[in-house]
Amino acid sequence: MSLLEVDDVVVQFGGVTAVNHASFVAESGKVTGLIGPNGAGKTTCFNVISGLQKPTRGKVRFDGRSVNATPVHRRAKRGMARTFQRLEAFGSLTVRDNVRVAFDIHRGVTGMIRPAAANVDALLERVGIAAYAKERADSIPTGTARLLELARCLASDPKLLLLDEPSSGLDETETDAFGELLRDLAAEGRGVLMVEHDMDLVMAVCDVIHVLDFGEVIASGPPAAVRADHRVQQAYLGYSDEADVELTMTDLAAVDETAEIPAVRTGAEL
Ligand SMILES: Nc1ncnc2c1ncn2[C@@H]1O[C@H](COP(=O)(O)OP(=O)(O)OP(=O)(O)O)[C@@H](O)[C@H]1O
Ligand SMILES: [Mg+2]
Repeated sequence: MSLLEVDDVVVQFGGVTAVNHASFVAESGKVTGLIGPNGAGKTTCFNVISGLQKPTRGKVRFDGRSVNATPVHRRAKRGMARTFQRLEAFGSLTVRDNVRVAFDIHRGVTGMIRPAAANVDALLERVGIAAYAKERADSIPTGTARLLELARCLASDPKLLLLDEPSSGLDETETDAFGELLRDLAAEGRGVLMVEHDMDLVMAVCDVIHVLDFGEVIASGPPAAVRADHRVQQAYLGYSDEADVELTMTDLAAVDETAEIPAVRTGAEL
């Protein structure tokens, strides 16, 4: 049984089908990638998994039990932790206090004692932001703020980490260190499910990748197989520049005259 099982989930917003019968799993001890072009439904899947979005249909099982009727805070208590694409730290608090608060919230829930300051500092050290401990969270670079979010998640000692575009804002060296940290977190037995546009990082650290396009899972497998998949290449063609978009539309029309012209999307690359 997998740590997380997303089973035939559909999410509709009015006439928009954001997630279309998506099924995928994430395992303990593995880094799983959830990738796809802009608007493919990745964040909506995260919202369904974490309990912020009720699915139109479908089921989510976590750690052996259905969580369909479980509210957000109880999913967190059972071992899910999540970062947001939009940053969520307390801007007026220091980096250290942000992590301390995250510890406090978790201890409050579990009824344990306050953390030693050493725990907070060890966590800052672990994610590589100890140098920023005394800075206000609203004054640190974006990449550092994302690592702060990860530290806040780790304060709850989660079984499953849901990371939405965690590497944006990190430079190359920071991204390499971040990739190693993800591998270490998986080696500790945690499940990591990561939405990420940096394909070098995804291909380097993920054990398994699920690809979403227009809300559907179009491929699942190890990095090499996913990279070689024809549908994946087709879904990603044309995101790098305008000329490619034109070419892709023409190509798709030639392949299937009934195919809808895809909306122009930007930013993702494979
Ligand atoms: N609350 C909402 N109401 C209406 N439509 C929504 C809502 N949230 C998302 N959508 C739509 O659902 C689709 C999927 O959006 P989602 O944010 O899940 O994509 P994504 O894969 O995370 O994209 P990105 O890579 O840009 O973050 C998009 O068409 C989006 O416009
Ligand atoms: Mg998103």
